Amino acid sequence: MDFFDVVANRRSVRAYLGKEVEEDKLQKILEAGNSAPSAGDLQGYEIVVVRDQKQKEVLSHAANQHFISQAPIVLVVVANQKRSAQRYRERGAKLYAVQDATIATSYMQLAATALGLASCWVGAFDDNGVASVVGANIDGGFMPEAVLPIGYPNQSPRATPRRKLSDLVHQGKL
Ligand SMILES: Cc1cc2nc3c(=O)[nH]c(=O)nc-3n(C[C@H](O)[C@H](O)[C@H](O)COP(=O)(O)O)c2cc1C
Repeated sequence: MDFFDVVANRRSVRAYLGKEVEEDKLQKILEAGNSAPSAGDLQGYEIVVVRDQKQKEVLSHAANQHFISQAPIVLVVVANQKRSAQRYRERGAKLYAVQDATIATSYMQLAATALGLASCWVGAFDDNGVASVVGANIDGGFMPEAVLPIGYPNQSPRATPRRKLSDLVHQGKL
């Protein structure tokens, strides 16, 4: 699929078929996440692959979003604040690690779409609940940023409306 078709076809899909995600496709998605730009090339993020049904159910519970546990694979993207802070101090911990994690998540969503898979970025969750499922020590600088269920789609949502470019884009100044 052409890049712009991938961008146009991506949707937040919240229902998945029981079909497993092939290992080579998962590897491509993870490689895409690993190709994302990052501040200072430090890659201040970790990606946790969750396949265990019990873990997925706890993630669903922590987000209060049941569809997460339906997906064959759930990726949890965690900002590694210490990694970014080693060079960039507070800005690294508070901003760059979060940006690194979220850019990688975007790359993985688009890679999933390009491979005929579906995903939904989940950001509304109880931080401690998600952290404890994947063994992330928040006080140690590992902050969960995104939960990304991935699977074959069992729904075809329409594109949601977007703001007009004339409203969103500004020439020179806000
Ligand atoms: C930072 C972020 C957090 C989100 N959190 C959730 C979420 O917790 N649950 C959910 O169902 N969708 C979530 N979404 C998906 C949005 O609802 C979705 O992207 C938006 O409605 C546009 O629809 P589309 O992705 O199909 O274009 C999130 C998206 C982003 C980028």
